Amino acid sequence: MKVVVTRALPPATLAPLADLGEVWVSPHDRPLTTDELRDAVPGANAIVSMLNDRIDESVLAAAGSQLQIVANTAVGYDNLDVGAIARHGATATNTPGVLVDATADLTMALLLDVTRRVSEGDRLVRSGQSWSWDIGFMVGSGLQRKQLGIVGMGHIGRAVAKRAAAFGVDIVYHARREQGDDIGRRVPLDELLATSDVVSLHCPLTAETRHLIDGPALNRMKAEAFLVNTARGPVVDENALAEALATGGIAGAALDVYEHEPDVHPGLRNLGNVVLAPHLGSATIETRTRMAELAVENVVGMLVGGGPITPIAVPSQ
Ligand code: GLV
Ligand code: GLV
Repeated sequence: MKVVVTRALPPATLAPLADLGEVWVSPHDRPLTTDELRDAVPGANAIVSMLNDRIDESVLAAAGSQLQIVANTAVGYDNLDVGAIARHGATATNTPGVLVDATADLTMALLLDVTRRVSEGDRLVRSGQSWSWDIGFMVGSGLQRKQLGIVGMGHIGRAVAKRAAAFGVDIVYHARREQGDDIGRRVPLDELLATSDVVSLHCPLTAETRHLIDGPALNRMKAEAFLVNTARGPVVDENALAEALATGGIAGAALDVYEHEPDVHPGLRNLGNVVLAPHLGSATIETRTRMAELAVENVVGMLVGGGPITPIAVPSQ
């Protein structure tokens, strides 16, 4: 058996693969280029991929018909052509569940940062400019009795709702399905955008959610409202967001993901009312270790028997 791992993972998490046969781990401290990926996969029975690897027809064709599994080391899998993987007779897996708390925690960190201007204040202090306390100095916005609008009420959206409720925030959400409990009120997206003080995105990136938050959506938001995105960059039209932030259309944004990641729109980098994190949602040592372990468990389950633990459902055509 041959397992291709596209980016170094904690060595201990890879140990179970050693019994399977050959394990190729990328030697690079960066994502593989498309050519390097196609060069690495021929003969692979399993590919352990990262969210910045595009696994498409060309990679699957290069791998060959013995490929049984593409194990993505992420909960999001917009980087995988799941339909093509199924047509090649292989299974795609992701790492759901294990990063819910870490991502919800980071969402709260960004939400608090942008509404209370923590990073902006940090930049001011480091700049050496003089400052002193006064009654209006760097005032932000409080959260109590404000409304948080959660777009996408999966495990992460619900974990954010629980945390925000402890801050005294009212919750509304937009989701395909009613959640059937007291987690908040389900409302149409337009109403969520028009009435929320903070809008936080927790939907996957799909054809339906690409540019869900575009110019018209941003125009619906209140001028005092904030946008938080820890989901996927292309859910937001970054041009339209930079414009809305620069012209006072909304009050601020806190972003962990970018439309053309790792590039960030220059219009965002120059604004004070924006917090920019480098895709840290799942970045705790405990969570990243669990993600790597689960990806490896999926490979072992597929190649040795018992089946993968967290397969991705193939959408019907
Ligand atoms: C991170 O963005 C993930 O999808 O796991
Ligand atoms: C995220 O990890 C989820 O399971 O929705």
